[in-house]
Amino acid sequence: MSSDFTLSDKWLKKLDRQTQELACRIGFDRKTLDEVFDKTTLLRLSKLISNKIIDHFDFPISTGKEAIVFRAVTSKDEFVAIKIYRTSNLAFKHIAKYIDGDPRFNLINKSRRGIIDEWAKKEYKNLGRLKNANVRAPIPIKKMNNILVMQYIGDMERPAPLLKDSTLDNPKKIFDTILRFISLMYNKAGIVHADLSAYNILIYQDKPYIIDVGQGVLLEHPESIEFLKRDIHNIVQYFKKFDIKADEKEIFNRITKNSDVS
Ligand SMILES: Nc1ncnc2c1ncn2[C@@H]1O[C@H](COP(=O)(O)OP(=O)(O)OP(=O)(O)O)[C@@H](O)[C@H]1O
Ligand SMILES: [Mg+2]
Repeated sequence: MSSDFTLSDKWLKKLDRQTQELACRIGFDRKTLDEVFDKTTLLRLSKLISNKIIDHFDFPISTGKEAIVFRAVTSKDEFVAIKIYRTSNLAFKHIAKYIDGDPRFNLINKSRRGIIDEWAKKEYKNLGRLKNANVRAPIPIKKMNNILVMQYIGDMERPAPLLKDSTLDNPKKIFDTILRFISLMYNKAGIVHADLSAYNILIYQDKPYIIDVGQGVLLEHPESIEFLKRDIHNIVQYFKKFDIKADEKEIFNRITKNSDVS
């Protein structure tokens, strides 16, 4: 047995113990946890620990169908968010349509796991594009197969709430900022989010943060225009409850004619 293996094995056991402790501490169903923390994922997480990218897990922020997001603490005592894509069949089903037609990714000869890894890579790259285009979103830190480490949005006590759960002091300002972000994504980052809604925007210190950008597509994607229209529609619809009226067509024309990007 090589020493490398012994080390991994040691970390694996330690991590497994940590996971068990975590499950007990927060009353989290271990079975659900095990679905995500299969042995391969555990090994990858152990690497994040041995490479001193993270020190320990804090608590699960969200356990969804496709991914589980944890708050974790780095060895420098800073919070990060860790998104772990599930490798189950269920999660895998509807993602191909967003990867097909994107020259950055290659699905040929890829296993199910391999495709999930490409998906995580897509989210990581899209977050990088958002950062470069000055769109407020978590800063990508590290990507390892199906695991994405990014900036944590929230404070000591709790992660930032979703837009759909937030009370807004100035909804018009938030609305305008989100439209500006859609425009910057389109005109500067060269992508369309494609799943933008009050479920994929966090509100932190009265400012919107765009999240969940894995399905974001390049403008050359055959359906990018349809996705853009849908994103605009979701946002305009949501803000109607704040008595904000806006013309979706006019917004679409403005964004695609690039007349509102400073
Ligand atoms: N960087 C972050 N900081 C704080 N909270 C986050 C961060 N990223 C995600 N979250 C939280 O985790 C939740 C799930 O994240 P995300 O929307 O990216 O995953 P998802 O693909 O929608 O997962 P699923 O579809 O399986 O629910 C979000 O709704 C948000 O509450
Ligand atoms: Mg989401």
